[in-house]
Amino acid sequence: MKRIRITEVGPRDGLQNEKAIVPVAAKVTFVEALAAAGCSEIEVTSFVPPKWVPQLADGAEVLRSIRRVPGVTYSALVPNERGLEGALACGVDAVAVFAAASEGFSRRNTNGSIDEVFARLAPVIQAAKAAGVRVRGYLSCVIACPFDGPIAPAAVATCSARLLDLGIDELDLGDTIGAGTPESIDAMYAAVAAVVEPSATVLHLHDTRGAALGCVERALALGVRAFDASATGLGGCPYAPGAPGNLATESLVRALHAAGWETGIDADAVARAGARVRASFGAGTTPG
Ligand code: HMG
Ligand code: MG
Repeated sequence: MKRIRITEVGPRDGLQNEKAIVPVAAKVTFVEALAAAGCSEIEVTSFVPPKWVPQLADGAEVLRSIRRVPGVTYSALVPNERGLEGALACGVDAVAVFAAASEGFSRRNTNGSIDEVFARLAPVIQAAKAAGVRVRGYLSCVIACPFDGPIAPAAVATCSARLLDLGIDELDLGDTIGAGTPESIDAMYAAVAAVVEPSATVLHLHDTRGAALGCVERALALGVRAFDASATGLGGCPYAPGAPGNLATESLVRALHAAGWETGIDADAVARAGARVRASFGAGTTPG
């Protein structure tokens, strides 16, 4: 199989980290352009308290306004039962819950310890599954934490096992601050492989230091076949001013196609979609 799954997370992870609040119409145009470019999985928004992420406070309106393309999975990130209810009311195809492998990030990002967040997520995952939607489980800080520093691969494996035990459909491993190198990706997967096959995981790379494509190459060699990316690397990193955000989708797609993999995505069309949404808030396009 030479096919790689890419989840486009620009509308959620990208736009949540831009200072500007993008108008609903521009978000809708962005999501529709991504689907037209061949993105078959799009994380559209999140349902978190607006005081935490005002950039995505309009998630319900965006989801309700999109002209949906059959076969495309439209998902939303949810932190708790209230968020899940909001997402389900908008007819999402899938939801993503999120926990962290580091205490510092867990407390800062979700106002709870690792244990508290797992306890909070258990009923959310159950309710999502009862409603018939797929559940992705993100684990953040699988390489390093902006507060706690490097994270031990064994801790990532333990948290991965706990998230999988809660019943998620797929584990998404997040290098939240783009600290990964091919070597640290190797070490992390060496531990995680004891609880789940790398081929059953998703790798979510931020490209803070320009190392993400090297990490992708190593992950492919380890059997990983699913990645997240964001059009034009939208998002930046709050902990690294001026850095790009998630790995740019068009860069990932071009690198994969050059290596003989299929993605079903038109890299140029994704780059145009990203450039257009950037223009809506006056930001230039980072090279992708
Ligand atoms: P909290 O403040 O402890 O929550 O946040 P709370 O239960 O005390 O509620 C506070 C207020 O928010 C209350 O309203 C609630 O009603 C309301 P008030 O009484 O003050 O008027 N509220 C809500 N409103 C709307 N939607 C909801 C909701 N829930 C409560 N769903 C909580 C705890 C977990 C909710 C919060 O910490 C949170 O949502 N954090 C998420 C922050 C976030 O979105 N971070 C970015 C996403 S994660 C990420 O980017 C990483 C990832 O990309 C992977 C990677 O890179 O590693 C996925
Ligand atoms: Mg992220």
